[in-house]
Amino acid sequence: MWHSSLWQLLLSIISAFLTTISASKGLPPIDLPQSPSDYYSDLVTVSSKVYGEVKKSGPLPAERYDEKLFNQSAFRDWLLLKVVYRENVTVPAPMSYRCGVFVNHDYKLIFIRNRKAASTTVLDTFKTACKSQKVMCMKPFSEEEMEARGLTHDTMWNSYYVISSTRNPWARAASGYDYAQDRWPVKTGVCGVVPFRQFCTNPYLLGTMGNMFRCGAEGSFRGDDSWAYDFYHVEPAHHCMTDASGAGLAVDFLIRYEHLHEDFTALVDIINERRKGTSLPELKKGRIRWRKQGVYVQATRNLTGGVSMWREDAAALVSSDRHAVRYRGCGVECVNDIAKFFAADMQLMKIETPPAVGGERRGGGRKGHNRTFGGIERDMG
Ligand SMILES: *[C@@H]1O[C@H](CO)[C@@H](O)[C@H](O)[C@H]1NC(C)=O
Ligand SMILES: *[C@@H]1O[C@H](CO)[C@@H](O)[C@H](O)[C@H]1NC(C)=O
Ligand SMILES: *[C@@H]1O[C@H](CO)[C@@H](O)[C@H](O)[C@H]1NC(C)=O
Ligand SMILES: *[C@@H]1O[C@H](CO)[C@@H](O)[C@H](O)[C@H]1NC(C)=O
Repeated sequence: MWHSSLWQLLLSIISAFLTTISASKGLPPIDLPQSPSDYYSDLVTVSSKVYGEVKKSGPLPAERYDEKLFNQSAFRDWLLLKVVYRENVTVPAPMSYRCGVFVNHDYKLIFIRNRKAASTTVLDTFKTACKSQKVMCMKPFSEEEMEARGLTHDTMWNSYYVISSTRNPWARAASGYDYAQDRWPVKTGVCGVVPFRQFCTNPYLLGTMGNMFRCGAEGSFRGDDSWAYDFYHVEPAHHCMTDASGAGLAVDFLIRYEHLHEDFTALVDIINERRKGTSLPELKKGRIRWRKQGVYVQATRNLTGGVSMWREDAAALVSSDRHAVRYRGCGVECVNDIAKFFAADMQLMKIETPPAVGGERRGGGRKGHNRTFGGIERDMG
C-alpha cells in the first residue's frame, strides 16, 4: 500500500516533467515541474548556511569514531530506561553508533559519513577513482594504520583535511522514515506502517519497533551495526561534526546535499591545490553522480540544459518534493517536532524553522507562488 502511493507520486512527478518538456517547443523557457509550491516545498529545501570551507576548532573526540573506544552500551541503556522501564529520562540520547570515519593517508583527507546526506555518493566518487588509482582510496579508519604513520587521533585530525556533508533536517528525517520501513521485509501486524505524524513525535520509533518485533529480520539485518540501523539513519548529525565541546566544528569543509555538485566541485579544487608539489594525481571533476536518484536525474536531464545548475542538484530538489508531501499531510506539528529533534543540528547549520504564514495547519495551505529551484527560473528568463 505504501509502495503504491510512493509509486504514484513518482509517476505524477515524472509525467509532470514530460508534459512540461514536451509542451515547450524547442526553446526555453521551460516550465519547472508542476509540483505544488508552498511552505512545505520551501521547508524541505532550506540548506545549511554553514558550508564550504569552515573553521575547524578541534578534533572529533576519538571515542566517537574509534570502535575500541566507543561506548556501545550508552545508547542501549538509555533506550532501555526510556522505552522498557518508561523512566523519566531527561538526558539527550547518546549516539546509537560510532561515526563513520574514512581516511586517505596519501592526500591526508578524512571524510565523516553523515548518513542520509549524500555520503554514499561522495564515497562512491572516491571509490570509482580508487579502482584505477590506489592512492585515491578512502578507507575506513584504522587505528593500526594511523599508528604505523606515527600519528595519534588528534595529530591526524588536526593535520588532515576533514570533510563532511549536511542535509536539510526535515528532508533527512523524511528520507530516514522512508528508508527504514522500505527495507523491512515484514510490514504487517506489529511491523505495520507507522504514520508519519507518529514518527515525527519520536524518530527513534522505527528503530525501537524494528528491534523489538524483528521487523527487519534476517536478510536485511546484517553486520554488527544491524540493530542500530534504523536509529542512526535518523539520529542528529551534530555528534559527528563537532569537537569535544560540542559547539565548535571538527571539520574543514562541509558539502551541502542540496548543492552537492557546486560544493563538491569547490572541494576538488581545494584537494588538488593541496596536493601541489607532490606526485599525487589530480582528482578529476565531473565524476560525481547521485546514487539511488536515477529516475530524478533522468527527469531533469533536459530541464537544466544551458542553465547554471547541475542536473544532479536539480534532481535533489525535485526528489525532495516527496518529502514535502509528508509534511503537507501532517502540518506544522510535524515541522516543529522535527525541528525540536534536530535542534542542535539546526544550530550548527544556522538554519531556523521558516515562519508559518498562516494556512499551514493540518493539510497545509498552498501559497501558489512561482517555484524557483535555486535560481533556475531567474536564469532562464
Ligand atoms: C558507557 O555508558 C554507560 C551509560 O549507559 C556508563 O554507565 C558506562 O560507565 C560507560 N562505559 C564506559 C567504558 O565509559
Ligand atoms: C521529568 O523530570 C523533569 C526534571 O527532573 C521534571 O521537570 C518533569 O516534570 C518530569 N516529568 C514527569 C512526567 O515526571
Ligand atoms: C532531451 O534532449 C535530447 C537531445 O538533447 C532529445 O533527444 C530528447 O528527446 C530530450 N528528451 C525529452 C524528454 O525531451
Ligand atoms: C510567475 O512569475 C512571473 C514573473 O515573476 C509572473 O509573470 C507569473 O504570473 C508568475 N506565475 C504564477 C503562476 O504565479
